[in-house]
Formats: sequence, structure tokens, C-alpha cells
Amino acid sequence: MTLAEDLPRRHDELLWNDWHPVAFSHQIPPGGHRAARLLEEEIVVWRDDDGSIHAWDDRCPHRGARLSLGGVVGGNLTCPYHGWRFDGAGRCTLKPAQPSAPLPAESIVRSFAAEEHHGLVWVCLGSPSRPVIPYEEFDDPRLRNIMAGPYAVNACAPRVVENFIDMAHFSFVHEGILGHADLTEIPEYRVEPFVDGSGQAGVRAVGMRVLQPQANLQATGPADVEYGYRISRPLAAILTKQIVGADVAEAITLFIQPVSEAESQVWMVFSGVRSPEPDEAVRDFQDTVFAQDKPILESQRPQRLPLQTRSEQAQRADLLSAHYRRYLKEQGLTYGVTP
Ligand code: FES
Ligand code: FE
Repeated sequence: MTLAEDLPRRHDELLWNDWHPVAFSHQIPPGGHRAARLLEEEIVVWRDDDGSIHAWDDRCPHRGARLSLGGVVGGNLTCPYHGWRFDGAGRCTLKPAQPSAPLPAESIVRSFAAEEHHGLVWVCLGSPSRPVIPYEEFDDPRLRNIMAGPYAVNACAPRVVENFIDMAHFSFVHEGILGHADLTEIPEYRVEPFVDGSGQAGVRAVGMRVLQPQANLQATGPADVEYGYRISRPLAAILTKQIVGADVAEAITLFIQPVSEAESQVWMVFSGVRSPEPDEAVRDFQDTVFAQDKPILESQRPQRLPLQTRSEQAQRADLLSAHYRRYLKEQGLTYGVTP
């Protein structure tokens, strides 16, 4: 049997020093905690009584038991094995087997940077090299935010991003919802350089027009929709959908948590027009769409996204995908891609 410490790991400097989503904020109320896996590291994410969020190595510094099997007691994360307690600063506040012994004044846990943005908890395992990706639509009062996912998929994260920015599959994978069997042609569109609100350069696609049988849950008939995609982090993409004639564009995020090189968790925030439909119905719609993508993603070979030019055949509609691959190469990504 393979021992956990013997499992081979690939280290990617770029992702190690970047932010990744690991939970929806609402999943961790004060006194709550969750286990998560990020870049093959086991972490525990918990919230103290003051509302501050923490992300630590999911391993007790005493005898290595999983802290996430314990719970938060009196604002302290408590180990399930011998009951040691740790405050938000990582200091041990109690060793129940020797309750009157002096305790070290410094942190004895391995902790990671954790922040909350766009309704999600983001963790950086190394030293953050840039801010969390901006998502301006989240704060637009005309839109309501609905969380969808996380969707687990056995695929490399860059393959999942590429699927999200691909429009030519709508008529096949999402026939009757996002595409129509008789409307398969993808008109020409443009891809241009883009700098996001945090000053990070990336690419965006503009002028992508499609006719969709059911562009969103509220649609009562086919709609002419203008798509826009923006990319300014390796494992994220934001889609905007402007239904022609509507006064505000909707947006959907694809934020990926790289669990391991071949396992991804997809976190979506849907910022849509206010409508009477319950949030649950909107989530069901996203669930249906993602369930259609999942078997395709898990079937793709090679599993790693090829970055060498001409290693796969292409069509005109792949223009954005070609730019995304070039962006990944420029960023220096090595995880989930073949160099
Ligand atoms: Fe955690 Fe002993 S292993 S208290
Ligand atoms: Fe799809």
C-alpha cells in the first residue's frame, strides 16, 4: 500500500503563490469548519467567534491527527485526539492532559493566507503574488448573486477553463438549452488584451453573438445573446451574457480549486437580473449544464492541456482557446498542462 507521504507531488510556483477558492463563505458560519484539499495539501478552514476566517494545515502539531475531525469550541479549533485547543493566532490554549502547564506564546500550527471575496473563501498556500481576481458584477445592485457548485470533476483545471470559454460545443453538449442543432456556426469574434481591476493583464473575447434556445432560466423563447469572456488568472474565467435589448449584462464565474493535477472543484457565482425564480431553480439550471460538460471533460486525452502549438487540430471558433493557451504559457503554468 502507498503511504500518504510517499505520494508524488508536482509543485507549481505560480499556483502555489496565487489565491484559490476552497469554500463558500456561508458554508462556514462562526464556530464552523470544513476540510478542503488544495494542490494536494489537506487543509482545514474554520471561523472563530469574531468572524475571522483561518486556513491551516489539517494536521495537529501534537501527533498529526486531522484537526478537521474536531470542531470549534469556545472560538478555538479543537483537536479530536487529545483535545488540544488552538486560538485564531495558532497558539495552543489548552492541553487537557496537563491543564496547568505553561503554554508557548507563539503559533504552533502551519497556517496559510485566507481572505473572503465574492462570497467565497480564498486561500494562498505560499506568498500571495497578486490580489484575488476582481469580480465587479458581484457588487452591482441591479444583479443578485447565486452560488452554484462546487462541481467536482476528474479533469485538469485548464481543460475545465477551456471548456467554459468554448462556444462551439453548445449545440452538441447543451442542445436545447445553450445551443441549437440547426445553429452550429460560431461567427467570427475578436480577442483583445485586457487589464483587470487589480492591474493584472489577460485576454478577453468580445462580439460573440449567438442565438440561444434558453439563454437563462427566465427565458421564454430563443434570445439573441452577446457573450464576453475575460481571463486574468490561470484557473478562472468570467463570462458576461448580454441579452440583446436587456439593460444589464449577467455574469457567471468559473473559479477553479485545483484539488490535484487531475481533480478540480468548480465554484460558480451567478450574478443575474433580479427575477421571481427561487435561487434553487437557478442552481438546478447550472447543475444541469455542468452535468452535461462533466463526462466530456473527464473523457479528454491527454488529460493535461497541451500548450505546444499544433499538438491538437483547431477550428476558427478556437481563437479564444488559442489565446488562453498562450496566456498560460506566458504565465509559466506547469500544473495541468503539457509544456
Ligand atoms: Fe491533536 Fe494529540 S494529536 S491533541
Ligand atoms: Fe459547457
